[in-house]
Amino acid sequence: MQRILVTGAGGYIGTTLVPMLLDEGYAVRAVDRFFFGRNLLHTHPRLEIVQEDVRRLGPEHFAGVDGVIDLAAISNDPSGELFQDVTWAVNHRARVRCAELAKAAGVKRYVLPSSCSIYGFQPADVIADETCPTNPLTTYAKANEQAELGVLPLADEQFCVVVLRQATVYGYSPRMRLDLAINGMTYGAWKTGVLPLMRDGSQWRPFVHVRDTASAQIHMLTAPLDAVNGRIFNVGSDENNYQVGKLAERVAAAVPRDVRIDWYGDPDHRSYRVDFSRIESLGWRARRVAEDGVEEICAKLESGELERTTETITLDWYRDLVKWREIIRQVDMYGGILEIEDGALRREAAE
Ligand SMILES: NC(=O)c1ccc[n+]([C@@H]2O[C@H](COP(=O)([O-])OP(=O)(O)OC[C@H]3O[C@@H](n4cnc5c(N)ncnc54)[C@H](O)[C@@H]3O)[C@@H](O)[C@H]2O)c1
Repeated sequence: MQRILVTGAGGYIGTTLVPMLLDEGYAVRAVDRFFFGRNLLHTHPRLEIVQEDVRRLGPEHFAGVDGVIDLAAISNDPSGELFQDVTWAVNHRARVRCAELAKAAGVKRYVLPSSCSIYGFQPADVIADETCPTNPLTTYAKANEQAELGVLPLADEQFCVVVLRQATVYGYSPRMRLDLAINGMTYGAWKTGVLPLMRDGSQWRPFVHVRDTASAQIHMLTAPLDAVNGRIFNVGSDENNYQVGKLAERVAAAVPRDVRIDWYGDPDHRSYRVDFSRIESLGWRARRVAEDGVEEICAKLESGELERTTETITLDWYRDLVKWREIIRQVDMYGGILEIEDGALRREAAE
């Protein structure tokens, strides 16, 4: 049995990936601060939960570990701009350090789930493959690129390093993100019957379903070393390269109510389209398309299992956590807010 350490295991991709790893027979050490809640991973005899900050990992966390999937990150552009120093510390430095600690501990494989956003926008005729010059435009994308550059040179015969540049992910996951394009479009259309869309809709974007990107990560744990070690793979499929206007029409058609597309803004011609033939040459395929994600999200909304809460919008939740920590710090006394500890009550009475 192989033990896989998953950082960011309590996140959108992590809460889908961990049960899939367990189903495949792996043991999982799930490391996370659990900013989005501690109850999203179900207990399992082969699942070990470690609440830790990835900036404070030590050799002990890697004991008995065969592979690492390093998901923990500040996970989108707006959060990366608001918390720039943290984004560099977590998304770049902590990941390189995690790979170094893994290598020193004798771990065999390290997988870095990076992002296609490091291609930035490309000329209209370019379909970006892994050799294409990168053009990271945001702190988030730049930190991903530096993480890639930091971990790839660690690859050698004993330590396999694989970088996965994931397209924008969609679909239902226990830690739900409605700040991702297809998920957000689906929610808006389902809730209001109006799907706001930036003109003119001809711009291209690449996507991948959350269970497909998790399966690509699992695939890399056993793929032949000579085919993957020290290499970068885009994760998605050509079928999931969408022009956003056509995507919006497909989302609207898959939502079970009448939906109107509400165009806004000046034409946005920033486009990027990605080539996925390298990962497909390994025999891996994305199996799902946008409608699969839309239908499962609508089903969760219909059943009341999913709601749009602040936790589903990453930036808003981090902002709230930081704000409430300060408020709580100011009013917290005797171990509580309204309720206080009994011992403190007794001491007060005696004084
Ligand atoms: N979702 C996408 O569309 C997408 C696309 C490309 C790449 N990625 C990358 O995949 C990874 C996972 O993304 P996600 O969508 O699951 O994001 P997420 O925000 O849902 O999950 C990130 C997890 O990391 C944890 N975390 C953050 N900082 C931490 C710290 N200092 N210590 C310990 N844990 C910490 C959070 O608690 C959270 O559970 C990220 O690296 C992200 O950049 C995601």
